[in-house]
Amino acid sequence: MPRTADTDRPIDQTPEWKALASHARRNRARTLAALFAKDRRRAERFTAEGAGLRMDYSKHHVDAETMRLLLALATRAGLKGRIAAMFKGEKLNITEQRAVLHVALRAPKGSSIKVDGVDVVPEVHRVLERMAAFSKRVRSGSWKGATGKRIRNVVNIGIGGSDLGPVMAYKALVHYSERSMNFRFVSNVDGTDFVEAVRDLDPAETLFIVSSKTFTTLETMTNAHTARTWLLAGLKKAAGRSGLPSDATARHFVAVSTNAKEVEAFGIDTANMFGFWDWVGGRYSMDSAIGLSTMLAIGPARFTELLRGFHAMDEHFRTAPLARNLPVIMGLLGVWMNNFLGYPSLAVLPYDQYLSRFSAYLQQLEMESNGKHVTLAGKRVDWDTCPTIWGEPGTNGQHAFYQMIHQGTRIVPCDFITFCKPISGLPHHHDLLVANVFAQAEALAFGKSKAEVRAEGVARELVPHKEFDGNRPSTVIMGERLTPFSLGTLVALYEHKVFTQGTVWQINSFDQWGVELGKVLAKKIIPELAAKKPVVDHDSSTNALINHYRTHRGR
Ligand code: F6P
Repeated sequence: MPRTADTDRPIDQTPEWKALASHARRNRARTLAALFAKDRRRAERFTAEGAGLRMDYSKHHVDAETMRLLLALATRAGLKGRIAAMFKGEKLNITEQRAVLHVALRAPKGSSIKVDGVDVVPEVHRVLERMAAFSKRVRSGSWKGATGKRIRNVVNIGIGGSDLGPVMAYKALVHYSERSMNFRFVSNVDGTDFVEAVRDLDPAETLFIVSSKTFTTLETMTNAHTARTWLLAGLKKAAGRSGLPSDATARHFVAVSTNAKEVEAFGIDTANMFGFWDWVGGRYSMDSAIGLSTMLAIGPARFTELLRGFHAMDEHFRTAPLARNLPVIMGLLGVWMNNFLGYPSLAVLPYDQYLSRFSAYLQQLEMESNGKHVTLAGKRVDWDTCPTIWGEPGTNGQHAFYQMIHQGTRIVPCDFITFCKPISGLPHHHDLLVANVFAQAEALAFGKSKAEVRAEGVARELVPHKEFDGNRPSTVIMGERLTPFSLGTLVALYEHKVFTQGTVWQINSFDQWGVELGKVLAKKIIPELAAKKPVVDHDSSTNALINHYRTHRGR
């Protein structure tokens, strides 16, 4: 039995939880303005640093006592023991009897982490070396397609964790990428995703990476089959009478999966398969072989930098005292806001256009991990778990949904993410960008009183419209520059934040049974869409929807 949290006692029945609840009640009226007025060193006291990231959480409704109580809650939940257990390869994913070892994916060569007595670090490095050798061949042009042309286009086919990480990382690191190559990503079973991704590509110059942990996912397998048909049709046309070599598919398809049997059944040579392991969850896999498209884009050396960044944050999480531990603080602030202040969502707002898909990536990481209603002990939780995660890059979001963040009726805590040094080579733009981060956090925290509005000479009837309550919490996370290394630290920060929260909420952050029912029902409905007779087996709404589609689909 793995060492887990104190799961016998529901977390909300512990003295630590109750102490936080009464602390929250007692301090309900306390404002951020008052907290700042009381302590001139507040920013310094509530700023933490680790792995090159600086996190200012002073604009939260916390004081030293709040943090002390939150840390006591983490201790009660057994956080330290759970961190140690994860790094030791214990099977914390109890519903699937699996270790949770994404940290092994970035463990340096020579270190050792064992699962069932087997050291997994050498295996990780063997795969990384194969990925590097393959990437070098493709990037240098020595890997040729079936008609002898070099590969210029890489299309990653995958969904969920086999897509969101690769897309996010490609966009984040495009500055460091090989610009003479095109990278595309196909995920949706909606055929338009595939059609649009390949419409201007030459099949003879295109490599598909079929990325799927299970290699059974409906969307990915459908897209992979369509890709093979598209490829072979295009290659045959190009080859004309000379015909295609027998290894045509193998030269244009590689697979990333844990399922060698299904990869072979699809027709991909397992020599061109890059493996990973059941102890890597899909949403924790962007730094495994699932990152092959990332490595092809930025090259093996920069991919190594990315892994170093992940590892730096892993080490910080593993060794820093809880009170100065970034993922722990972040996770506990989330618990504080979710469970004691009652804020149901979190906006993640990167002020960096390269991080345009970061919030989407986090939606899976956080919500698939901690969107659970059952404890490790199999009991229904009596407390809220994962908030809704959403967001868009700034400053664009400011001109869309920030109205609600500033003056809406619900409080939306915000994570602002920004970097000191720009990549664009346009420093003036960067100052404007970063000034907006600071301004937004300041406006949210301190608002603008009626008296201030009046003092500006605003007409009396407009004063209530122009007043800002303020007192709205946010965190500002700053890195030096967006690089492969800092991206690694940022992703690992959120991974471990999720771990911290899952531990406090006493849930299994590493399974995802909640996605199954819809998949099963879709499988039943697929043949019904082509049924000759009206479908009557479902509820009246579902029957009517299916039957409307049957009769209107035009086939
Ligand atoms: O349906 C959810 C899910 O299982 C995710 O957890 C996973 O990242 C995604 O589907 C894709 O799965 P696979 O990599 O096995 O195709």
